[in-house]
Amino acid sequence: MKNKLLYLLSIGGLLLTLASCGGNKANQDTEKNDSTQATDSSQTSKNMNTTTSKDVHTFAQADQAVMTDLALDIKVDFDTKQIKGKATITIDNLGKTNKLYLDTKELGIEKVTLGDDEKETKFALGETKAHMGVPLEIDITPDTKKVNVYYQTSPKAEALQWLNPQQTAGKKQPFLFTQSQAILARSWVPCQDSPGIRFTYSAKVTVPKNLMAVMSAENPVEKNTEGVYNFKMPQPIPAYLLALSVGDLAFGKIGERTGVYAEPSMLEKCTYEFANMEKMLEAAEKIYGKYEWGRYDVIVLPPSFPFGGMENPRLTFATPTILAGDRSLTSLIAHELAHSWSGNLVTNKTWNDFWLNEGFTVFFERRIMEAIRGESYSEMLAKLGQQDLQGTVKSLDEKDTHLKLALKDRNPDDGMNDVAYEKGYFFLRLIAETVGKEKFDNFLKNYFAKYKFQSMDTEGFLAHLKQELPEAAKLNLDEWVYKPGLPANLPKVSATRFENVDKVYAEWDGGKKAGELNTKDWSTHEWLHFLRKLPAKVDKAKMEDLDAAFKLTDSGNSEIAAEWLSRAVPSEYDKAYPALEKFLVNVGRRKFLVPLYKSMITTEAGKKMAKEVYAKARPNYHSVSYNTLDKMIN
Ligand code: BES
Ligand code: ZN
Repeated sequence: MKNKLLYLLSIGGLLLTLASCGGNKANQDTEKNDSTQATDSSQTSKNMNTTTSKDVHTFAQADQAVMTDLALDIKVDFDTKQIKGKATITIDNLGKTNKLYLDTKELGIEKVTLGDDEKETKFALGETKAHMGVPLEIDITPDTKKVNVYYQTSPKAEALQWLNPQQTAGKKQPFLFTQSQAILARSWVPCQDSPGIRFTYSAKVTVPKNLMAVMSAENPVEKNTEGVYNFKMPQPIPAYLLALSVGDLAFGKIGERTGVYAEPSMLEKCTYEFANMEKMLEAAEKIYGKYEWGRYDVIVLPPSFPFGGMENPRLTFATPTILAGDRSLTSLIAHELAHSWSGNLVTNKTWNDFWLNEGFTVFFERRIMEAIRGESYSEMLAKLGQQDLQGTVKSLDEKDTHLKLALKDRNPDDGMNDVAYEKGYFFLRLIAETVGKEKFDNFLKNYFAKYKFQSMDTEGFLAHLKQELPEAAKLNLDEWVYKPGLPANLPKVSATRFENVDKVYAEWDGGKKAGELNTKDWSTHEWLHFLRKLPAKVDKAKMEDLDAAFKLTDSGNSEIAAEWLSRAVPSEYDKAYPALEKFLVNVGRRKFLVPLYKSMITTEAGKKMAKEVYAKARPNYHSVSYNTLDKMIN
């Protein structure tokens, strides 16, 4: 960053002249300790709460000045595909510093003022850094309490997906949703975008009159005539949990504290599918303590949502691909609900500690499912997870198979795979099996209570674990956390319901006709286990046999459809091509898209088809999905 430069920025056709100022410390590396490789974790056991991990994905200098509250006053403009307005940031100026550093990504900054009297102050946008965006450096004084940033988003803002009416269920109104995790909040709100920094927030959001806005906050249940909505999130959250959705929405009640938002034509299907949400919430509280966020609602988004679910506090964002019609994919809701403890209450301090969010949540998710569906059910989930994990570990670079990640100078997205989820899960399961399940549940309950509304790093957790559960200290903890691959004491899963599936598969493989197999009472998970046993390329006659008996090409269950359709191209089973194309054009969920496109590019003809379909489908995808797929296709 050079001093006193004039930046000319053209954003959305608007020319803004931005006065720059001051030196920029934000780009200097002030890191203490990336603490990613094998450290002797016994060293940290004495000082559990010391900072051993610094967030390498933020420009904020949290030891100097941190934000404690955000007040948004924004307008959502579907014509220009922009959010415009003011972000008022309350700070705690710990270091009595003269500079405040915020994260931004492709934001246009109009002006910055200080305090309630809004005295204009100098600011500068620094150099763009890959994945991270641009630091916004603001001149403050040692006693500045409030900073007002007037800004607008880029039409290409990575967190935002603007949908035209055709991409919605109702086909009449546009739709907008955000996806802030991991470091995309900065593309729609100037903020300190680090999971170790928490703040309360409030927002006034103005939207077109016929639409409704909802956030990760206290929400309306009805549209109002002005199109102005006010929100409050009184509990402090990290920036990656900031969320907004705008569309033709309606609310349906499920239980006293639970409900669902969806487009009106989808609402009934959603309330049916999620009927057991209140029960899940009660089961979760019984295991790990009080739910701290008031209400728990889910919004079902249009199918381009890039994830299965996102644990935005008070309001999980979910894909419609879990609406199987038979409530068989609702463990995803258990997962997002579980994040209300693991992740939202006790938060990974940096993205290198991501397994603390996801591994704990998978463990918790399976405890909830065990409580409401029984152990034979949760063991099927665990078995499928273990299969995923083994595949992922084989495909990854060794260094990316550590639980503690090393994501410096990389996109945190690179670490978001089954290692954090499933290796994390099996690590916790090993501890639970070692100390006893009840004791471990109790340990986790106390852990959430003790560290609620705080962040935690891997070393802090290990230290706490060793202190509270000395029996666990004898395990090969460091190997699990700081070494690659899967340790020899990986827990065994006893998915007894899959034993029958194995038998039935062997019969079919041995020549028995699909129509004669006994698949009575199979759940989605048994089907998934069966289909996963298919080789990548299946004999075409065998594909026909299965399809004739079980109508797999026409399956309305997205998990089953995706597993099945991934065999279509390698097997040259062209009967399923139209269904495959339809799926790829409609669904934007990355977890399905990646293996499907991967399966297609294994043959020359498939590659051509993949390119053609991708050209058509890409405009329907969120940046999270197309940024991954662009690298794969072309
Ligand atoms: N928090 C994640 C989604 C996420 C992770 C978004 C990293 C951005 C970066 C969410 O809780 C999640 O894990 N979703 C899974 C569902 C699940 C049941 C494992 C998904 O979307 O598939
Ligand atoms: Zn999760």
